[in-house]
Amino acid sequence: MADLQARVDELHQLLNQYSYEYYVKDNPSVPDSEYDKLLHELIEIEQEHPEYQTADSPTVRVGGSAQSTFEKVAHDTPMLSLGNAFNEEDLRKFDQRIRERVGDVEYMCELKIDGLAVSLKYENGQFVQGLTRGDGTVGEDITENLKTIHAIPLKINDSRTFEVRGEAYMPRQSFIKLNEAKEQNDEQPFANPRNAAAGSLRQLDSKLAAKRKLSVFLYSVNDLTQFNANTQSEALDELDQLGFKTNQQRQRVQSIDDVLKYIEKWTEQREDLPYDIDGIVIKVNALEQQDDLGFTQKSPRWAIAYKFPAEEVITELLDIELSIGRTGVVTPTAVLSPVKVAGTTVSRASLHNEDLIHERDIRIGDSVVIKKAGDIIPEVIKAVIDRRPNDAQVYHMPTHCPSCKHELVRIEGEVALRCINPKCQAQLVEGMIHFVSRQAMNIDGLGTKIIQQLYENEKIKDIADIFYLTEEDLLPLERMGTKKVENLLNAIETSKSNSLEQLLFGLGIRHLGVKASRVLAEKYGSMDTLFEVSEEELMGIHDIGHKLAQSVVTYLENEDIRALIQKLEAKNVNMTYKGVKTTEVEGHPELQDKTIVLTGKLQQMTRNEAGEWLELQGAKVTNSVTKKTDIVIAGEDAGSKLTKAEKYGTTVWSEDDFIELKNNIE
Ligand code: IVH
Repeated sequence: MADLQARVDELHQLLNQYSYEYYVKDNPSVPDSEYDKLLHELIEIEQEHPEYQTADSPTVRVGGSAQSTFEKVAHDTPMLSLGNAFNEEDLRKFDQRIRERVGDVEYMCELKIDGLAVSLKYENGQFVQGLTRGDGTVGEDITENLKTIHAIPLKINDSRTFEVRGEAYMPRQSFIKLNEAKEQNDEQPFANPRNAAAGSLRQLDSKLAAKRKLSVFLYSVNDLTQFNANTQSEALDELDQLGFKTNQQRQRVQSIDDVLKYIEKWTEQREDLPYDIDGIVIKVNALEQQDDLGFTQKSPRWAIAYKFPAEEVITELLDIELSIGRTGVVTPTAVLSPVKVAGTTVSRASLHNEDLIHERDIRIGDSVVIKKAGDIIPEVIKAVIDRRPNDAQVYHMPTHCPSCKHELVRIEGEVALRCINPKCQAQLVEGMIHFVSRQAMNIDGLGTKIIQQLYENEKIKDIADIFYLTEEDLLPLERMGTKKVENLLNAIETSKSNSLEQLLFGLGIRHLGVKASRVLAEKYGSMDTLFEVSEEELMGIHDIGHKLAQSVVTYLENEDIRALIQKLEAKNVNMTYKGVKTTEVEGHPELQDKTIVLTGKLQQMTRNEAGEWLELQGAKVTNSVTKKTDIVIAGEDAGSKLTKAEKYGTTVWSEDDFIELKNNIE
C-alpha cells in the first residue's frame, strides 16, 4: 500500500500544481484533459480505498454531500466595511485627514472587486474553514462551497494558523454561460455576476456550487503580526508567495493626484477586465501608519472605497406596453431602443404605475435617461425635455384589460390598476407559470413559452389540464424533441406526489405564501379537511391574520375551485401533507425558555448539533451574549463571549456540565 500512498501523494501534488497554474497564475502547463484524467484516477482510488480520502484532497473540488443549513460562526475579529468616496472632493478630504495625522503617506490602490467578501482560515498548511461576511460579526460556514473554487489553495506550504480575506466573484465569462443555460431552461437569469456568485455560494449542495465557475482575489491577512510585511504591498506579495491569488492591477502611488490618475485609468478600462469592479480601494500602505490611524466603529480610517457612479445612459422610449400579473395587477413597461447599461443590454424597464409616468412627464417618443437601480433593475429616471420631438405622445392607461378587454379597476388605497376578471387569459397563464414554479409544484421543463403555446393551442385551459397532457399534445410545440417531452411528462408525473403545501401554494390563493401554505398543510393534513375549515378557526392559528383567513375560505368555497380540485384528484394528484409533523414537545424544565449561547470548540458534538438538541428541549439558542442570556456553554478556546458572560455574571457551563445534563435528560 506504500506504493498507492505514494501515487495518491503524487496526484495531490500534480493536481494542486495544475490548479495553481491555471487558476491563480492564468498560465496552464497541461491541457484540461490531463487534469481531468488525473482527477478521475484519484476519485477512483478514493472510491475503492476510502481510507485515502482527506479533507484537503483535490477531489473535494467537485463538491460533496448536500448540507441542510450553513452553520453560523463568529469571526475571530469583525469583518468591517469601508467608508465611501464618490468624487474628487471626498478623496482630497480623506487624504488631508490622513496627512494631518501621520504626515507623508504612500497609498496602495486596488481594484474594488464586485463580489462577496469571504474569509479563509488556514491551519497546519490546510484550508480548514471559509466564512461569509454575514453581519460582520457572525458569518456562515461555506467551507464546502469555497473548496470547489480552484483559485483557493486547499494546501499551502506554511504551518502558521492565520486567516486571509478577500472577494469571491464570478468571472464575466462564467456569468454569461450560466445565464445562457438558465435562459435555455426557461429559468430566471441572474441580474449580474455578483448575485450569481452569492447565489452559488449559498447553494447547500456543493456539487451545484462546483458547477458555477467562481474565483477569488485575496486582499488582506487578518492578523499581520505573524507576517514579515511592513506594508500592505509586502503583505500582498507574501500572499502571492504562499500561492494565493491576489489582484495584479494594484499600484503603489505617492500622492492623491496619482490616486486620481489610477481611478481615471480604471474608469476607462474597467469594461476590458474579465470581471466586474464597482470602484477603487485606496489604502495607506505602511502598516505602522495604519496602526496609528486605527478604526472607527465601522471601518478603518486608513482606507476608503471610491465608488464608480451608477451609469446613466440615454435612449429612446419607443412604446409603453402593459403586462398583467397573476393577481391581475397591470404594470406599464417601457419599451426602449436597446442600450447597454452597466454591462447588460436593456430593452425594457418597469414604469411601475401611471402616476409615476405623469409625475416624471415621460412621453412616448421621448429620449429618456436610464439607470440601473442598485446596478440591477433598469429604471427610467426622466425624460430629456429639450430633445422632445413634436409628436411625443402623452400616455394614458387604457380603461380595459389589453388581454381580456374586461374593465380595469383601481382598488381603493392602491395605486395599481387591476383586471378583476378571473377568466382573464394573461392572468391564467401567469397563474400556471406560478403553479409549476420551483416552490410550488416544481415541474421542470414547463417554461413560460411552452405554457403560452399550450394555452394558445387550447391544450391547457386550467392548471389541472397539465396532468392530462400527452405526448401528442407536446411533440408539435416549437423546440420540443422526444427526449424533452419524455422528461417533461416524467416531471409532471413526479409532481403528482408532492406534499399538500406545494399544491396549496401553487394554487395562487391571494396572500397565501410558502410559509402559511406549510402551516395549513401541516395543521389540517388534507384538502378535504381544509374544505371544512372556517374563517374563525383559521384566524386562531398563529401567523394567520384576517385577510389571509378570509381569502383562503372564500377561495375554497368557490364551486369552480371545487371542480378544479376534483379534476386534479381524478389524475391522482396528492392532496395530503407528507412532511414531518413538528409536534410541540414539552421541553425540559431546566432548559425550557432559557436563552443559551454556545461558544468555543466542543469535542463531543458540533455547536450546530448541540444547538438543535437544546432547541428541542425548549431553549432559545442565540449568537451573542447579552444581559438576557441565561446560560453560556463554553467549549475549548472560548473567547470574547465567555469574557462577556463573566462580566454579566451569567451562568457558565463547561462542555462536560452540558453533556452530563444531556445524558440525564435522555
Ligand atoms: S479592503 C476593512 N480591498 O469592498 C475592510 N475590500 O466595504 C477591508 N472589496 O465588502 C476591505 N475589493 O469585500 C478591500 N481590494 C479590496 C476590495 C474590497 C472588494 C470589498 C470588500 C467589502 C467592501 C468594502
